[in-house]
Amino acid sequence: MQIHDTIAGLRGALKNAGRVALVPTMGNLHDGHIALMTQACDHADQVVATIFVNRLQFRPGEDFEKYPRTFAADCERLAAAGVGHLFAPDEAEMYPEPQTYQIEPPPEQANILDGEFRPGHFRGVATVVMKLFQIVQPDVALFGKKDYQQLMVIRNMVREFNSPIEIVGGETVRATDGLALSSRNGYLSAAERAEAPRLFRVLTKVVEAVRAGAQDWGVLERGAMSELQAGGWMPDYVALRKKLDLQLPSAHDSGLVVLAAARLGSTRLIDNLEV
Ligand code: PAJ
Repeated sequence: MQIHDTIAGLRGALKNAGRVALVPTMGNLHDGHIALMTQACDHADQVVATIFVNRLQFRPGEDFEKYPRTFAADCERLAAAGVGHLFAPDEAEMYPEPQTYQIEPPPEQANILDGEFRPGHFRGVATVVMKLFQIVQPDVALFGKKDYQQLMVIRNMVREFNSPIEIVGGETVRATDGLALSSRNGYLSAAERAEAPRLFRVLTKVVEAVRAGAQDWGVLERGAMSELQAGGWMPDYVALRKKLDLQLPSAHDSGLVVLAAARLGSTRLIDNLEV
């Protein structure tokens, strides 16, 4: 695996690379990231992974500084997964001047759900992803359904900008107890880690209720929030939405997804399940 820390170096290495797949990450790689890398290998001749903790998508007071950085271990896992190129720039390479031009996703997509609780987050994500698309110019890019709203924002951005990049969504990889893998799981204490799968269980119950015919979304959402609170969580939201655009479903809509974000101690976890 070649490791590049400059845009020029990466671009030089990708000349005549054939079909290129891009998998952007912020590092501290786990099996969820690696599953995207493996999937990427099936889509292209060369896989480019990126590791860059993007300051633009963190708000002051969030975990930008303490975000886990495990570069050596990440490199080993990427090489073993068949990744040909790792692009790992520093901030000066990605943002040599203030990023005054940014991608502003529409409020109805970016200010709901996670965007309501993390104002500006999806602007930061869309902006860095657009930059990575310009730098790598991939044929296909892979993103996890774990970050469902992020995947939707990127799909819509690519479509509206007529970008020729195919966007592929990867299924969420979970621990055996159901907890979705996340770099932030490492912040949990042993007791919190034991409690953490409740989020998946609560979402599973909502999905089962909808499949069994329940149609009062509000009742289901409030019930799920109370169950989280009973386990000591501080939920930001549990929301049943339409898969396609994450807008509110009406009573007879199908094609739903239930999404949640909640804090356990000082750790904020997100998860979702398609119905
Ligand atoms: P990061 O959180 O490192 O995630 C990188 C990619 O891995 C994202 O597409 C995310 O959805 C996916 N992923 C994370 N956990 C997963 C799991 N358990 N199963 C499957 N896929 C999973 O998301 C970001 O970084 C950043 O916002 C980024 C897109 C890199 C822009 O900075």
